[in-house]
Amino acid sequence: MTAPTALHNPTPLMHSTELSRRTQTNIWLKLEFLQPSGSFKIRGLGHLSQKTFQKYGPKTHLVCSSGGNAGLAAAYSARQLDIKATIVVPSNCSEFMKSKIQSEGAIVITEGEVWDDADKLARSIVAQDPHAVYIPPFDHPDVWEGNSTMIAELKEQMGGVTPDAIICSVGGGGLISGVILGCQAAGWDNVPILAVETHGANSFQQAVLAGKLVTLPKITSIATTLGAKTVSAKALELSLVHPVIPFAVSDAMAAGACCQFLDEHRILVEPACSCSLSVLYTPELLSNIFPNLGPESNVVVIVCGGSNTNLEQVNSFRELFLAEGQQSSIAVKSGDQILLKMTNGTLQKRMTSPSSGLDMVENPSALITKRKIQEMVAQIDPTERLEPEVEDILLELADEFIESVTQFACRLATHRKSSTLDVKDVQLHLERNWNIRIPGFASEEIRSVRKSVVPASHTQRITAVANAKTTTQK
Ligand SMILES: Cc1ncc(COP(=O)(O)O)c(C=O)c1O
Repeated sequence: MTAPTALHNPTPLMHSTELSRRTQTNIWLKLEFLQPSGSFKIRGLGHLSQKTFQKYGPKTHLVCSSGGNAGLAAAYSARQLDIKATIVVPSNCSEFMKSKIQSEGAIVITEGEVWDDADKLARSIVAQDPHAVYIPPFDHPDVWEGNSTMIAELKEQMGGVTPDAIICSVGGGGLISGVILGCQAAGWDNVPILAVETHGANSFQQAVLAGKLVTLPKITSIATTLGAKTVSAKALELSLVHPVIPFAVSDAMAAGACCQFLDEHRILVEPACSCSLSVLYTPELLSNIFPNLGPESNVVVIVCGGSNTNLEQVNSFRELFLAEGQQSSIAVKSGDQILLKMTNGTLQKRMTSPSSGLDMVENPSALITKRKIQEMVAQIDPTERLEPEVEDILLELADEFIESVTQFACRLATHRKSSTLDVKDVQLHLERNWNIRIPGFASEEIRSVRKSVVPASHTQRITAVANAKTTTQK
């Protein structure tokens, strides 16, 4: 029997003059949006579906949980194989995406708020139907193998040239696992991979930083198809054996890149994909991450695509994120670093603490260290000793707080049409929204105007700290 033809297409590799000019290096786009289902997902899902069909025959019922694109790929595969498919999606999957899946002949069920909820239902459906086979959207060796074919193709297309870096998005981790496995098979063991997510969907970044799997409390990003609360163990494991740089960008950056990429390249992609492109639209970011890139270097971006988008969505991005006075002062986070993209397009690294006047400085140490936390606690009560897990929670809290204050203050700076973050921006935000005064900088007239709004996540953590302390006191 001859091997069945793959369900995915080989995709072109295109040199982008515009992005190469911006970044002063060679940017190559691997055009995965040209796949039949509109995203790279068909490589992995098509391969897994075919193998499942070969194993269980024509009565096979594929049951796939998905944020949208894996489901569409599974539905497309089932149609090609002439078998039944049920796709379970969360409520943040758009109606037009659901109808695309339905038009491939699949049954679509909506369950829960995020993919993790949909996944539970998919597994329970499989338990009740003897012909049903669970098709995971990212966590399966056949999915990784299928995804890795894009690197085998890329190797041929590069004609003997090894890329200096590959940029790809991370959701549940199927894409990056395939990319890493593909690189290893290609002998590209040292090619660094910039793994991009959005804040609020950055389960991979959190896992790499923690050195263990981390479950996000919820998904809060517009990049809904990246929204797996926990990344796959395989992605984390592979990040330990291959050079990977986890990186999270803001929704505003992903949305901005989506609009710019459409305008410049006439290609419409989801934020799940444009988050990777967004790094190129702030060239200083790229050179900051990869200082050795030059005019002869070659960077490949996996344009993973996505069908869960349309012009209406892009227009809403323009309104939400790119309206006058709103664009560009954007914080991005890489590990413990906060980088600020300012209105004039320049990039500033890190900030000092508010009390030192908020100068931008290049400072390679962490924003708030454990030692700093210990010192602060000792100032309140010199006899107090914190347990490591309480310190970790406090560190996380401090990090999030600084990030939110920075983002908000940047918006205020942009609002007053300045490209420089001034102490007054931070001061105004802290006083108005948190009722916090910066010693030596307080302005009486705006004090106590508003009560502080304490987010639920903050309250939960405070409770967690209190609980941890009670447990350690017992
Ligand atoms: C368009 C798009 N890009 C990237 C990803 C991330 O892929 P993975 O979940 O395999 O990490 C997804 C996931 O659904 C996606 O739909």
